[in-house]
Amino acid sequence: MYSGQGSALPSFAIRLNHRRPTWLPFLFVECDKSMNNRHIMATYARKPVSFERGEGVWLYPGKSREDRYLDALSGLAVCGLGHAHPAVSAAVSDQCTRLLHTSNLYGITLQEELAARLCDLSGMDAAFFCNSGAEANEAAIKLARLYAHSRQVQHPVILVTENSFHGRTMATLTATGNPAVHTGYEPLVPGFIRVPYDDADAMQTALSDNPEAVAVLIEPIQCEGGICIPTPGFLAELRRLCDRHAALLMLDEVQTGTGRTGKWFCFQHEGILPDVLVTAKGLANGVPIGACLARESVASLFTPGSHGSTFGGNPLACRAALATLDTIEANDLRAHAKRLGEYMLDSLQERLSDVGCVQEIRGMGLIIGVELAQPCGQVADLCLENKLLVNVTAERVIRLLPPLILEKMHADQIVDILVRCILEFAGSPVKRPEDRHA
Ligand SMILES: Cc1ncc(COP(=O)(O)O)c(C=O)c1O
Repeated sequence: MYSGQGSALPSFAIRLNHRRPTWLPFLFVECDKSMNNRHIMATYARKPVSFERGEGVWLYPGKSREDRYLDALSGLAVCGLGHAHPAVSAAVSDQCTRLLHTSNLYGITLQEELAARLCDLSGMDAAFFCNSGAEANEAAIKLARLYAHSRQVQHPVILVTENSFHGRTMATLTATGNPAVHTGYEPLVPGFIRVPYDDADAMQTALSDNPEAVAVLIEPIQCEGGICIPTPGFLAELRRLCDRHAALLMLDEVQTGTGRTGKWFCFQHEGILPDVLVTAKGLANGVPIGACLARESVASLFTPGSHGSTFGGNPLACRAALATLDTIEANDLRAHAKRLGEYMLDSLQERLSDVGCVQEIRGMGLIIGVELAQPCGQVADLCLENKLLVNVTAERVIRLLPPLILEKMHADQIVDILVRCILEFAGSPVKRPEDRHA
């Protein structure tokens, strides 16, 4: 693991543990010139590169136009329109010259416009804006507690799933089903019960066994958890169960929202409506924003003073979000994401299906996971050396979240580099597509 913080050793000495040619430490020492981590708390094991500029699918560490990295992560599902998209840049620049912030003490026209737009796209009735996914989930959790108390439930329980990820605040880390995220932060927040993912029977039992269960908080795809895509019909079944038990269905679409799966929101693949919908990440293409949307009966539980956020829904973030949604709509990027996602899945299947260490390749739209049989953080390092940005989640799943503006030639490049790196990692001879058809 790379860490530049407070280490007595020169950083290249630490990195020599990685499998890479002997000349590479010099490259990474060079990258370090721009990195000064001494004053940053060590919450991330950062890769030894930083970027000065971006354009579309490319990120540039310096001034050179040749030295560039192909971004197959989009800042973790944030920059769906790629970097420095002209429509977002123009909207943000213009807004900077008009008005950045007034606070929620006053009306914010752009916030009203964005709320109406999101309600129209999602089928929800009202929005609360904040600045991140975790904060948006906090709002959902608070709504569930208000809902419980409105029904005289004294000790409300929210059902959450194993292997989930909902954020890093105390309530959302408690909701998260990954023990590593809990460690050291005990005591956790009471009122959460964990149920296996993609198991409608287990959810039915949990709802029946816990009369104080007032909500189910769940991701339609577990992305941090390793791109786990539930069985078709699972969400629809959850909807029926929640209706039967008068529990709220609260969907965390922080990562799956804003067109990434081929629809505005992932739940729309199943033709259902949640009671509460949480989104963030890709909503404003890099300007921080989070939104908790809800149907009227739930949204109306918030009253003046019951929740708030200084920066939430400020004019800058809302303007960026409106420009992002307009651009996705105008360029039909949802359909594009679906098409290119299917193309990438097919290409990866074709080239990796007979590689022993590859267990499964799965995805929906431009959320793609390649699961290997063993921990494979090294594949992300090999990709980085080959100027491709991917990451590994759940230890064994290589995650691709390329921007929705991806073109076919970029998709081919991503697949080509990734396949070569997986084969190198697996110690197999590198096969190119032409070899397969020979
Ligand atoms: C499904 C999901 N929920 C919540 C979060 C937390 O979002 P944020 O990091 O913006 O607080 C994430 C972040 O990865 C996420 O993927």
